[in-house]
Amino acid sequence: MTLFFHILRRFAIICISLLTGVICLVSFFLESPIDPADYDIKPSLAFTGPLEVNSILSNAEQILEGYLYGPESLTYHLPTQTIFTGTRDGSVMQIFIGNKQPKIIHIFRYHNIDSSLCNATVASVQICGRPLGMRISPFDSNLLVIIDAYLGVFEYQIKEGVIKHLLKTGALIKDSNEPPIRYLNDFDFTHDGKLVISEPSFAFDDYNFHYIVLERSPKGRVLLFDHTTSSLQIRINHLVIPNGIQMDASRKCVFVAEMGLYRIIKHCMDRHKIGEYDILIEGLPGFPDNIRLLPSSGLLAIPIPMPRLIGEETFLSSKWLRDFIAKIMSITHPVDALPEKEYGLVILIESDSGTIVESWHDPTSKTIASITQVLEIDNDTFYFGNDGLFYIGRLVMNVIQPE
Ligand SMILES: *[C@@H]1O[C@H](CO)[C@@H](O)[C@H](O)[C@H]1NC(C)=O
Ligand SMILES: *[C@@H]1O[C@H](CO)[C@@H](O)[C@H](O)[C@H]1NC(C)=O
Repeated sequence: MTLFFHILRRFAIICISLLTGVICLVSFFLESPIDPADYDIKPSLAFTGPLEVNSILSNAEQILEGYLYGPESLTYHLPTQTIFTGTRDGSVMQIFIGNKQPKIIHIFRYHNIDSSLCNATVASVQICGRPLGMRISPFDSNLLVIIDAYLGVFEYQIKEGVIKHLLKTGALIKDSNEPPIRYLNDFDFTHDGKLVISEPSFAFDDYNFHYIVLERSPKGRVLLFDHTTSSLQIRINHLVIPNGIQMDASRKCVFVAEMGLYRIIKHCMDRHKIGEYDILIEGLPGFPDNIRLLPSSGLLAIPIPMPRLIGEETFLSSKWLRDFIAKIMSITHPVDALPEKEYGLVILIESDSGTIVESWHDPTSKTIASITQVLEIDNDTFYFGNDGLFYIGRLVMNVIQPE
């Protein structure tokens, strides 16, 4: 026995020394790809009251399973009863939902890149693009506008099939020395037809999203783009991973999902100076993504694709640890290696007060997980997007009639 323990002890010492050696090598000799920021993270709201865990989303279904990959954003085109969505292979799909059985009726790309290169791998998205936010123009129902993380902003005339490249990444901010735009994510239309656009980071692109998350520095911006004059302005600077964008009913105020700080902020163009905003809700239990106003209730739907991990705040408070992980990732480059806790979650809030009204969960994540956007159609049918799964979620609610 003593010999056995002796050997075990020696083995343990060798292992620990090796591990320490590797840690030292990595932390001393590798240059960190990130510059981690310090900040206060608000603790998560508790899963009680309107946030209490339920299984509402477990009643959802997966539609078009296996026919698409990562339908992140969804928008509804009423005249044709179709949903448009963008997928990881850089294409846009038009899906007819007028029948019980949804059907993909059209697939197209908004660029001339050789489509055989577009195999939806992380290597290919840098070449083929990654369509993210998309919306039908509120001023012209024939116009679909698409944001691509790598390529910029495109417009697609639905009837004619005509495509225009409205804004390219690398474009400069008007009258300023600010960095050019790098990585766009979501947008909405202002009352006078401009676009309010989120840029999670001007330092890294979508391919390096793991660095953005680890660094969590205020390198995000909300931009205002007027394509009639091609002018690009900053409305809010120094945000920590701004992502989802939604205008209010007047289209003069914008709600921004500030992912890195787990909160939703509100900025009114007619009331706030550039850079000013109010906080609508904070302490969200995970990263908020493409927020959308639900047409029937007027509530703001906040999808949470990735709930906070246990100990996330403690982990984030260590800049050394974040640096260390970024250094490791710079060798292995595991783009999908950030820990992801699978869970289906949508939080519905009142858009003027920020009060939580209800939440929908699939704690098992078996039916639906990693929701990036909610699209409501006909008051009772909800479609759910995601960034890396092979289906669209759909839930038909039992409508409760008021007394
Ligand atoms: C996918 O496409 C990229 C180029 O876009 C290429 O580099 C890569 O080798 C391809 N991978 C596979 C598995 O086909
Ligand atoms: C949805 O609800 C709104 C307001 O309650 C109502 O005006 C509209 O007719 C409803 N639409 C459908 C398709 O049920």
